[in-house]
Amino acid sequence: PRYPWRGLMVDPARHFIPVKDLEKFVNLMAYYKFNKLHLHLTDNQGWRLPVPGYPKLKSVASRRAESFGDGIPHEGMYTKQELKGLVEYCAKRGIEVIPEIDMPGHNQALHAAYPEFFCFPKPDINVRTTAGNSRELVCPQKPEVWEFYAAVFKELKDIFPSGTVHLGGDEAPTELWGKCPLCREARTKAGMKDEQEQMRAFFAKTTALLAKNGQKPQFWYEGNAGIYHPGETVYAWRQNQACQSIEKARKAKLDLIMASNEYCYLDFPQIQGQHNWGWMKTTTLQKCYELDPAFGKPENEAGHIRGVHAPIWAERLPDLDHLLYRAYPRACAIAEAGWSPMNARSWENFRRKLADHRQFILKRFNYDMERTRENEPAFPWKNKK
Ligand code: ACM
Ligand code: ZN
Repeated sequence: PRYPWRGLMVDPARHFIPVKDLEKFVNLMAYYKFNKLHLHLTDNQGWRLPVPGYPKLKSVASRRAESFGDGIPHEGMYTKQELKGLVEYCAKRGIEVIPEIDMPGHNQALHAAYPEFFCFPKPDINVRTTAGNSRELVCPQKPEVWEFYAAVFKELKDIFPSGTVHLGGDEAPTELWGKCPLCREARTKAGMKDEQEQMRAFFAKTTALLAKNGQKPQFWYEGNAGIYHPGETVYAWRQNQACQSIEKARKAKLDLIMASNEYCYLDFPQIQGQHNWGWMKTTTLQKCYELDPAFGKPENEAGHIRGVHAPIWAERLPDLDHLLYRAYPRACAIAEAGWSPMNARSWENFRRKLADHRQFILKRFNYDMERTRENEPAFPWKNKK
């Protein structure tokens, strides 16, 4: 392959995906020679990893009252055994599972269960029922936060032998760190000039905690290479920032995985005119296929790129059929971007091959693509079940 890292990300935090469905998803991943399955296990809308000593993760954070006003409760929590089984299932198919625990933001579900972890605890906050983000970040100055993450990382170590842990780090507005008395005092004491320095210290501490277990972090790249530490791996994801991210990561001695959303976010609409929830860019199959993870840069400028990765965010994907409908055939284009050098690729050739693959995928899943497309959740959201 052109790149050693060829991944897909699924989002059971937004809509729980039972392990049986993940196994079906993995079968097709293996067929297309993806080798990393990234599980986005936590977010504002749900927490899916059980951690010993923290029962409210299940009783509170893994449940929400409804989704987008549909009035239907949603819940789901993996068991340790299930996740271990998934890791084994994937390993037999050449796939490593990468767990993500998003921090310090994207944590409204955690906030609902353990408000005391946050700078300004809101005891009445609920697990989020709509898309979008919350402003609250965990407070790095509270010892119970570090006890919690130590327990989380220990559990991950037991389940995921590879030791790579995605720590998120995306979309974490620091305004409440700016106002928090504990955070302010800590910044003054340490001589930190701003909250970005506090973010760097936060990730230095989480990374040290991981290192005790032989684990290593990854992050969504937020454009400020100064937050991360040389040798770490970041994902370029923000729209139209891929080229500058490649350059900034190289200068900061970071490894980079390409997940630029205008090519790689497979939850975005795939057909012109298809519903975009008011904001998503149409990401056609051809657009996905046009991705060169190195953006034409020569080896001496792109040697730190480890591969390509396609997230499939699931705010609007209630089940496996909808997940597959969004993922394929575009994942085939991403697989080829990970596998083949540019001089071996051609859109015409890819299109010709795809006719057969379409039949293969539909048969393999025994699912009705037309029906799934027609039943895509409407906006405003109406769950048809
Ligand atoms: C992201 O889309 N927030 C990584
Ligand atoms: Zn604080």
